[in-house]
Amino acid sequence: MGSFRSTKYQFLNAFIFLLMIQTKVFSYQYKVGDLDAWGLPTPANPKVYTYWSKNHIFKIGDSLLFLYPPSQDSVIQVTEQSYNSCNLKDPILYMNNGNSLFNITKTGDYYFTSGSDGHCEKSQKLRISVPGNGSSASSPSYGPGSLPATAPSYPTVFGSIPMAPLSSPSSSSLINPAIFLSSSIGFLICAVVSGFI
Ligand SMILES: *[C@@H]1O[C@H](CO)[C@@H](O)[C@H](O)[C@H]1NC(C)=O
Ligand SMILES: *[C@@H]1O[C@H](CO)[C@@H](O)[C@H](O)[C@H]1NC(C)=O
Repeated sequence: MGSFRSTKYQFLNAFIFLLMIQTKVFSYQYKVGDLDAWGLPTPANPKVYTYWSKNHIFKIGDSLLFLYPPSQDSVIQVTEQSYNSCNLKDPILYMNNGNSLFNITKTGDYYFTSGSDGHCEKSQKLRISVPGNGSSASSPSYGPGSLPATAPSYPTVFGSIPMAPLSSPSSSSLINPAIFLSSSIGFLICAVVSGFI
């Protein structure tokens, strides 16, 4: 008759464990843009990379996976200035093996673009912001006016990104898909554990 108690206890433990994992330990490997290929944005979704990065929260330990045919593209990490001006010279990091994993090791902003001529101008570029140092985590670090041109086209995003219960762009960083993930896993474990009663 002690089995009910211990089952509940196990479930609680598992749940707490999952919560801890998701807040502290879990590192995500993000496929950039949720796309199977890092490439020129399509006309239907020209700002795909901008929207994608705004809808995710990155942290130290996470990594970005850029997939592409190595003969056709590459990834470079650049400075903010080079990102804005599409200057492909003197990149911070150059990756061209088609399966490029960038590991996030510190907080701050990271800027990437394609190493192919003309691709940066066509918005094949990605800026991510890794929040850190306490309270700044939830405030958007996309400073005022940093991406003014993208604001008017927000409705397009809502149409094209399935998980977008976002009320405003600035609140996006408060919504963590990982929470949904771990609660689903929690329910799954609950179901499995109840099966043993
Ligand atoms: C990131 O880490 C992976 C695995 O630890 C490694 O293979 C890869 O080269 C790293 N990426 C960079 C850009 O250093
Ligand atoms: C956070 O703090 C560390 C060490 O104090 C510092 O090196 C880093 O630049 C800070 N990052 C930000 C985004 O302020």
